[in-house]
Amino acid sequence: MLKLENCSLKDKHTFHMEAKARYWVEFESIDDLCDILRHQTFKGIPMLSVGGGSNLLFTADFPGLLLHSRLRTIELIREEAQSVLVRVGSGVVWDDFVAYAVDKGWSGVENLSGIPGEVGASPVQNIGAYGAEVKDTIALVEALNLETLQMQRFSNADCQFGYRDSIFKHILKNHFVVCYVTYRLSTILNANIRYGDMDRRIREKGGITLQNIRDAVLEIRSEKLPDPSVTGNAGSFFMNPEIQAEQYQRLKKSWPEMPGWALANGRIKVSAAWCIDQAGWKGRSLGNAAVHDRQALVLVNSGNATAADIMALSDRIIHDVKAKFDINLHPEVLFV
Ligand code: EPU
Repeated sequence: MLKLENCSLKDKHTFHMEAKARYWVEFESIDDLCDILRHQTFKGIPMLSVGGGSNLLFTADFPGLLLHSRLRTIELIREEAQSVLVRVGSGVVWDDFVAYAVDKGWSGVENLSGIPGEVGASPVQNIGAYGAEVKDTIALVEALNLETLQMQRFSNADCQFGYRDSIFKHILKNHFVVCYVTYRLSTILNANIRYGDMDRRIREKGGITLQNIRDAVLEIRSEKLPDPSVTGNAGSFFMNPEIQAEQYQRLKKSWPEMPGWALANGRIKVSAAWCIDQAGWKGRSLGNAAVHDRQALVLVNSGNATAADIMALSDRIIHDVKAKFDINLHPEVLFV
């Protein structure tokens, strides 16, 4: 167990601004985690489980306990006719797991290559990119109940997955720490390469293989998204909003190019990036915060941004998109 007091969070979240946590504790096992939670020092103070910090904005010092998983095993627990079940510790770096799966010839997470963060956040957020969502591979989530200190198992249905959403963001929020995630991956390659020009890129690499899909995704990401180890950011800052079909039809009259995807519920998901871009924000700065010049959905720390700079920029963008399109943007990033 590693326990730090008054710990600087600068290197513990990908926006990289200074903030402090009263306690930062890393656990190596479930027993370790239970010991921490039973400890008198941590009774009655706020608690939050933090992975790679790639979806967080610390708006102030954190007055409580930040828990960080060092459960870092990857176990093959079952081989089935055309799939495998793999149980992964929440502290494994997400992209290390993807690289491992691709290397083993297991398909299902290759489109999610290069997403920053750790395995524990994958079910919470239902991470997604390039036509794939992690929910389609999750068989089981094992999480520790912070009140009872019992491990609880959640099936895929129990997790109530939605777009960047799960039960862990709602009624179970702050009540559980995800410890292990079991993924069902296919031993047969199910290529999902309809996004953008992915098929062209893959053909140029010599055809459809797991490694070529991974390489194409990493290539697209490096062209569009800033590397958080170089430029502080938390990926997409806003979610893609859903609007009524009638509103979308009205907007299309003025902006025929406006991208939109019909959802099963009859509503239309529109592109937040496109709206922000059209509102003139792409590449623009406000104070020390900026909108990335190649992906308008990403807000960046241009050097010495404070959380207040990022929030001021976010507020201006929300205001301008509302004024121009009557669309409400909601942050995907969690403000702590
Ligand atoms: N677009 C613009 N301007 C821009 C960027 C995009 O007009 O600056 C337009 C594009 O032309 C396209 C549409 O917006 O028609 C969608 O763009 P893109 O495919 O880049 O995806 P996105 O909807 O902006 C989502 C995810 C990303 C994920 C990509 C690729 C969310 C909130 N974001 O972005 O996830 O990588 O799709 O699948 O759903 C993240 O969650 O942190 C993240 C980066």
